[in-house]
Amino acid sequence: MPFPVERPRRLRRTAALRRMVKETRVCVDQLVEPFFVVPGGGIKNPIPSMPGIFQTSVDVLVEEVRESAGYGIPAVILFGIPERKDETGTSAWDESGVVPRAVRALKRALPDLCVMTDVCLCEYTDHGHCGILEEHRGVKDVANDATLEALAKEALAHAKAGADVVAPSDMMDGRVGRIRRALDEAGHAEVAILSYAAKYASAFYGPFREAAQSAPAFGDRKSYQMDPANAREALREVALDIAEGADAVMVKPALSYLDVIRSVRDRFDVPLAAYNVSGEYAMLKAAAANGWIDGPRAAMEVVTSIVRAGADIVLTYHAREIAKALL
Ligand code: PBG
Repeated sequence: MPFPVERPRRLRRTAALRRMVKETRVCVDQLVEPFFVVPGGGIKNPIPSMPGIFQTSVDVLVEEVRESAGYGIPAVILFGIPERKDETGTSAWDESGVVPRAVRALKRALPDLCVMTDVCLCEYTDHGHCGILEEHRGVKDVANDATLEALAKEALAHAKAGADVVAPSDMMDGRVGRIRRALDEAGHAEVAILSYAAKYASAFYGPFREAAQSAPAFGDRKSYQMDPANAREALREVALDIAEGADAVMVKPALSYLDVIRSVRDRFDVPLAAYNVSGEYAMLKAAAANGWIDGPRAAMEVVTSIVRAGADIVLTYHAREIAKALL
């Protein structure tokens, strides 16, 4: 008997063999591209920490999304930067606010596009926290139940504008149930909820907070977002959101949480999304710009690993470059 008997390299010898035995296939259908929408017209502001990503006004957004849809990307998620921020984030549920306007424009221009909206108050509050503040035992913190009412109004404004999916990212307890009830009572049973079920208090949101101008003015988000050390708690969060009516759930960020993605996939049957967040994108782009890594190959490796871990849907700022590479 020659040695070694087992030769896995046989199936790696040619490109055709490698294609045939590939276990994970990334498909454009899985991609969701995030966009930051600002008031005004003709605006396309580059975000310094996220090369290739821009804040756009609604008119420019429509053209950008048209290009992405041309590459086959089926879905977008919108984040709004409002004209004015205040203590309770009132422009979040303004029906003529920047996100409802963007949703209407996109649905008009691209009726087949899946339009998702991020539902959270941090872009709309002047203090940058994801909810309405209260002082309790001498400490300022986000008031859970008062915030639920605001989130329900925000989700409803997005649904009325024509959003296909609303995606609450605030991490308040009970928000999926409260939003589901608000949508159903207003005759929007057709609008789906993708909950950011396991969202961690991560250092990898830095560039996003620059893009959305939503960094908390004081403190941090640790009293509502999850501790990066906790994986079992993610399963509990997912179970709660599904029980409250989430149609799909998300793990966020993706790369430091591939184990969480895998255990959610193994335990639950609803579609699973993962968010390849701004800091993950910025790290890769910075290294590529320095010539330290091969950017396009690294981006494909990142998205492949997220799908391999078990995500059905990947929210990623690499969406357009991945879609082009898959053509
Ligand atoms: C809003 C929200 C955040 C992100 C998505 N929705 C920021 C945060 O929680 O601070 C982060 C996305 C990214 O980093 O790409 N709550």
